[in-house]
Amino acid sequence: MVSKIERLGVVGGGQMGGGIAEVGARAGLDVIVCEVSDEAARAARSGLWKSLNRAVQKNKITEAERDETQARLHFTTTVADLDDRQMVIEAIAEDEGLKLKLFAELDKVVSDPDAILATNTSSIPIAKVANATSRPDKVLGVHFFNPVPVLKLVELVPSLLTSEDTVARADALANEQLGKETIRAQDRSGFIVNALLVPYLLSAVRMYEGGFASAEDIDNGMVLGCAHPMGPLKLADMVGLDTLKAIADSMYAEYAEPTYAAPPLLQRMVDAGLKGKKSGKGFYDYE
Ligand code: CAA
Repeated sequence: MVSKIERLGVVGGGQMGGGIAEVGARAGLDVIVCEVSDEAARAARSGLWKSLNRAVQKNKITEAERDETQARLHFTTTVADLDDRQMVIEAIAEDEGLKLKLFAELDKVVSDPDAILATNTSSIPIAKVANATSRPDKVLGVHFFNPVPVLKLVELVPSLLTSEDTVARADALANEQLGKETIRAQDRSGFIVNALLVPYLLSAVRMYEGGFASAEDIDNGMVLGCAHPMGPLKLADMVGLDTLKAIADSMYAEYAEPTYAAPPLLQRMVDAGLKGKKSGKGFYDYE
């Protein structure tokens, strides 16, 4: 019987990795966040501290709980510091080459043979990531949704090589320890949610690009007409236009269907450095 997970590693401290680390530490896990540089590690820490302070202001946690949570969060720039982790969740950029390189490294440094190596990818084949390691049965997709502290869903994505025990342990972590709801999807680009969401977001970009309507009217249409919490262009800005394009590209590579093709405007905005909320400008301004 393998014990429950107490030591979690998160690689990448951006909006997804930071959110996963926050949820883990708030649930009582000891969490190490690994970033690429001291500057990125400082930014990850400051994002997490800001989010925890906001949770205090909103009376979701007490000041004492914030301090305890902060004490459970550690930051490093060295992947080898994850050697004692029982589970590592990768949440770096949606770039297949980078992910394969990282998983080969994690395979070398994580010493517990029962440790789970998970990826938060939205669209890259889990089987490829798994095959970068010598333990593909311990690798799976554990896909969270942004903002991670708010949204309840986690998609669990086993590859053809993942053991049922690995899926069951990841399910227990997400459900029982982190308080999320899980659904299971096959190892197909986009899984369940993005396979439906991404064509919708791309359609909104095409509609805007074609001059059908203003960004505000497209978004208001879906907020007021369909009770979505935010419109598709605002959501695209929140996901990150570079991330949306990377997901669309992976899905187009998998299915070769026009519905997944990134429209030229999305491509040009990314080329111009307009990445949405995180860069201060996308379909809207965030200054
Ligand atoms: N961290 C923690 N809490 C947050 C938060 C964050 N980043 N953003 C918002 N919240 C909390 C607020 O504190 C607030 O909590 P209370 O109601 O308890 O006070 C609650 O969420 C609502 O927030 P706001 O009142 O500030 O604003 P809102 O009502 O407009 O909600 C939203 C904001 C939660 C982001 C909401 O608009 C929403 O759910 N939008 C849709 C998000 C979505 O579709 N996400 C999926 C993206 S796809 C993805 O992630 C996968 C992928 O692979 C691309």
